[in-house]
Amino acid sequence: MNILILGSGGREHSLAWAVLQNPKCDRLIVAPGNAGIAQIADCSSLDVENPAAVCEFAAENSIDFVIVGPEAPLAAGVVDMLRDAGFLAFGPTRDAAQLEASKTFTKEVCDAAGAPTAAWARFTDAATARAYIRERGAPIVVKADGLAAGKGVTVAMDVDAALAAIDDMFSGAFGAAGAEVVIEEFMGGEEASFFVLCDGETCLPIGTAQDHKRAFDGDAGPNTGGMGAYSPAPILTQALQDKAMAEIIEPTMAEMARRGAPYTGVLYAGLMIADGQPRLVEYNARFGDPECQVLMMRLGGQALDLMLACAEGRLSDAQVNWADDHAMTVVMAARGYPGAYDKGSVIKGLGELPETSSEMVFHAGTTAKDGAITATGGRVLNVTARGPDLQSARDLAYSMADRIDWPEGFFRKDIGWRALE
Ligand code: AMP
Ligand code: GLY
Repeated sequence: MNILILGSGGREHSLAWAVLQNPKCDRLIVAPGNAGIAQIADCSSLDVENPAAVCEFAAENSIDFVIVGPEAPLAAGVVDMLRDAGFLAFGPTRDAAQLEASKTFTKEVCDAAGAPTAAWARFTDAATARAYIRERGAPIVVKADGLAAGKGVTVAMDVDAALAAIDDMFSGAFGAAGAEVVIEEFMGGEEASFFVLCDGETCLPIGTAQDHKRAFDGDAGPNTGGMGAYSPAPILTQALQDKAMAEIIEPTMAEMARRGAPYTGVLYAGLMIADGQPRLVEYNARFGDPECQVLMMRLGGQALDLMLACAEGRLSDAQVNWADDHAMTVVMAARGYPGAYDKGSVIKGLGELPETSSEMVFHAGTTAKDGAITATGGRVLNVTARGPDLQSARDLAYSMADRIDWPEGFFRKDIGWRALE
């Protein structure tokens, strides 16, 4: 079959890599892709947030299956229009993607579903929000309602920080995303990510992972899109996964169907675990990045069969063939990220690294220029490895990272510390 993947990050490189291992894939196009993806698939500069353009492209290229990587095309309604035009697509409709696009929507769905999450309140003016924060005290969490590229959340450890976040949000720092603000109870505990395929009726867990959001070692520095991940997440034991399915995921999916917006695609549940109880931090309507890279390294070619079963509503017959393996990815980012960084530096040494089912460097912000790979984004490479245990996956990933010659880049040296402690 002819497959189109939308996106340009490490997530999409790992999706492309996994899909290509499946003999069902005859031709793969990735739009817009990056320099690493271009080494294994055709890339196109299609505008992926324009549903009509995506449909036209799919028709012109006889595409049989479209896999949507990032949230923006989902929120733009790409899956809705593809389905209306008769294409098979992996991802939620715009209405179902509200589970990521709107925090208040998600909170209302969780309340209706009885899914455990932080207590919350919604505000549309700064004065009432400030009064609420003073009454509640800290720690407390302030969130812009809409999509804010992962930057719309302030976990305030004191009242002043929470008040400052309110001022930021109502001053327009997040545009329309900040016009409505959610203030939440602070939840302590350990965070983990749980990935579940949903076809509107059946839910199938496909893996757990833990991300590292802070820029520097020891979980110091500013928040980022994620500096490294591993799978599985040991804290999410089978018992906790079962509990999360029964108390959070299944009731949410039932509530979405009841609202006439059945959820299809991968549901990424960010969970907070404390005292043996999982609570929902947030949903995302897509794979995590870099979590996808470790999930794909573990699933390999069966990822395509699972995504097809999901899109075709056949999850009740699908199953995951688990291997007893562990994967880790270490993100190499441009110095300065997540703040300002230079673009255009040359990365050397990639050609000498092995590319096997257990060792891959997935590209994110890279461009090929004059025969060289250059860095053109904040997060640039995902050095990913697999092994029989987490320590061996980690040793392999770091030995690869050390062989990449890119003085303008940096990476955390402590990915996996929680699980290996
Ligand atoms: P979100 O975008 O909602 O995932 O929030 C970003 C990060 O903020 C999460 O991954 C958590 O680390 C943290 N966070 C969000 N909500 C809460 C909460 N209610 N309690 C504690 N930490 C939170
Ligand atoms: N790594 C976090 C995310 O993809 O949202």
